[in-house]
Amino acid sequence: MRVLVTRRWPEEVERALQDRFEVVLNHADRALSLAELAQAMGEVDVICPTVSDRIDAEVIGGGDRVKLIANYGVGFDHIDLAAAKAKGIAVSNTPGVLTDATADIAMTLLLMAARRAGQAERELRAGHWRGWRPTHLIGSSLKDKVLGLVGMGRIAVATARRARHGFGMRIAYYARRQCDPAIAEELGAEFHPELRGLLGASDFVSLHVPGGAETANLIDAAALAAMKPGSYLINTARGGIVDHDALADALRTGHLAGAGLDVYPHEPHVPEALLSLENAVLLPHLGSANIETRIAMGMKALANIEAFAQAQPLPDRIA
Ligand code: DGY
Repeated sequence: MRVLVTRRWPEEVERALQDRFEVVLNHADRALSLAELAQAMGEVDVICPTVSDRIDAEVIGGGDRVKLIANYGVGFDHIDLAAAKAKGIAVSNTPGVLTDATADIAMTLLLMAARRAGQAERELRAGHWRGWRPTHLIGSSLKDKVLGLVGMGRIAVATARRARHGFGMRIAYYARRQCDPAIAEELGAEFHPELRGLLGASDFVSLHVPGGAETANLIDAAALAAMKPGSYLINTARGGIVDHDALADALRTGHLAGAGLDVYPHEPHVPEALLSLENAVLLPHLGSANIETRIAMGMKALANIEAFAQAQPLPDRIA
């Protein structure tokens, strides 16, 4: 079976893949164009894209050989599932293994935004630090503050656990349905059936819903206006969930005290309006970026390809 890996993976996973299959690697690690991805559809049996590859209907229509899209990542809003299904192509992802790493980045952003760490480091490196003083770069504490989670899946729960048990935050969430009562009890989590209700009750809001049409601009100007004055927005989910122009306005006017973002609508482009704002902490999509997680993601993709090769049910089939 011929497998295309669109970007470099950790070496041990590439090797494990090569031990079992004929693998086409992207040694230069450059983003493949839509035309190259479309062409690959006719040249390999399995394609392993990442969040940075748009696998739309046109790409999927590029050839008839691919029978499995084994995504390296949990989010799949970059893949047109309907188009894949229409061509009988199976799709898998890598859930579970990046939960902790992503929750760690959510907490990193939350702390950096609350304690103004990005702004402080920029000041120091620029040689502008004038020494310790009681009013210098004062931030906000986390203890007893309300962390409002939008979505209550695995990553949200892992983030809430860190915030509750590690930092003494109070937990609230908005989701389509209430979470497991044992988890709600462990976290003392308060359920909000309406998004606006959660936004108005939270000191920090952290986004944990999937990307895609259903959640596009969920956090728009009106939602931002519904957030508490002086609160913070954290996004480790998908960039398209937030209207970034409206967010920049809310940060500029001071309605929001800060934001911590790991994801953007058209990566690697970062909305210009955010780049000059001191109260925006901006990371380059690092949610899953630790070596243990990146290996585990590759091994999960491999397990799906192996199951496919043996005509077994895919462990992580999404379409
Ligand atoms: C995912 O897996 O969806 C992340 O965004 C990339 O690690």
